[in-house]
Amino acid sequence: MNASTEFTNPQQVKSPLRKHVVTETTEMAAETTLLDPRFYTTDFDEMDRIDVSPVRGEWDRLIAQMKSDPNKKHFKKTDAWDEIDWEGMEPELKKELIDFLVSSLTAEFSGCVLYKEMKRRGTNPDICELFSYMSRDEARHAGFINDALREAGIGVNLGFLTKAKKYTYFKPKFIYYATYLSEKIGYARYITIYRHLEKNPDKMIHPIFKWFEEWCNDEFSHGEAFALLMRTDPKLTSGYNKLWIKFFLVAVFSVMCVRDHQRPAFHKALGIDIDEYDREVLRVTSEISKQIFPLELDLENPRWEAGLVRLRAAFTDLDSAKRRGGIGGFFGKQVASLRVAKNFVGLYLLPAKKNVVPESSHLVPAY
Ligand SMILES: [Fe+2]
Ligand SMILES: [Fe+2]
Repeated sequence: MNASTEFTNPQQVKSPLRKHVVTETTEMAAETTLLDPRFYTTDFDEMDRIDVSPVRGEWDRLIAQMKSDPNKKHFKKTDAWDEIDWEGMEPELKKELIDFLVSSLTAEFSGCVLYKEMKRRGTNPDICELFSYMSRDEARHAGFINDALREAGIGVNLGFLTKAKKYTYFKPKFIYYATYLSEKIGYARYITIYRHLEKNPDKMIHPIFKWFEEWCNDEFSHGEAFALLMRTDPKLTSGYNKLWIKFFLVAVFSVMCVRDHQRPAFHKALGIDIDEYDREVLRVTSEISKQIFPLELDLENPRWEAGLVRLRAAFTDLDSAKRRGGIGGFFGKQVASLRVAKNFVGLYLLPAKKNVVPESSHLVPAY
């Protein structure tokens, strides 16, 4: 069986939206559960009213750097792009590698869709310029991953995805917290994998990882932009909004850990210990986020990791209850959902550490 027949689901052609056969990878990308990357929509008019004057100097520097487009030629295949033997790959690894690529593609494309929409709807030249550069970058990132999937005959239909995927509405401030963190955690993930493979080139299971070094600099800059947007209004990072910041820190960090543990074969093939990797990625992201957030999670607290283990177990049970179905599955789902909620609240209630935010949020990629 070749990869393209394996991932084709002809039953899906019935829907009016589906003029062509939709591959299973497109279905995977279109799914929106608690753990999948989401597509967002927001109050674009409110975002369009942002006045960047309070951070003008740093803003202009960042925009000039984005305009210079340092990665213009980066997302092209070169001789360094080795052939992948998809047919000969161990099935579990193949499944998890595809899951990793599809999930990364969905996250990249989610940014592209949101940023492009902001640029399309906006009238504020500062905001439109920023969002046009960021959507340009994310379109390249998503396109590059999709090329890798196409090689295996399982490319995602992005046009279809734009129409079929559910959109989650977030107020602009929630977009800032969530997107800032996903850009910075994206940077930390890509650079940690890249540095690991630099030391362990025999673990290069797919050539796409060779592109991660320059790639993650784009994510870093996008995070810098959201830090500046938040600095235009001090209310966004003070008062009761600190509770929301803590919520997003716990949500983004814990979801990453749960998702990573769902790919044991993938991490084993990369020679990555998932716990160590997650610890490092969270440490880096937490350190970076001190540029703008007035609090940081206490990742050293033993109750943090113990809570994550319980949260993961609850998600695993939720997953098996869903698959079991029937009355037993139904009750199993209710119980596991309660455990997910209880353990999430437990993580949220752990005391956070105060952080004194520096005068300037400016940082350079240093990992
Ligand atoms: Fe990206
Ligand atoms: Fe990004």
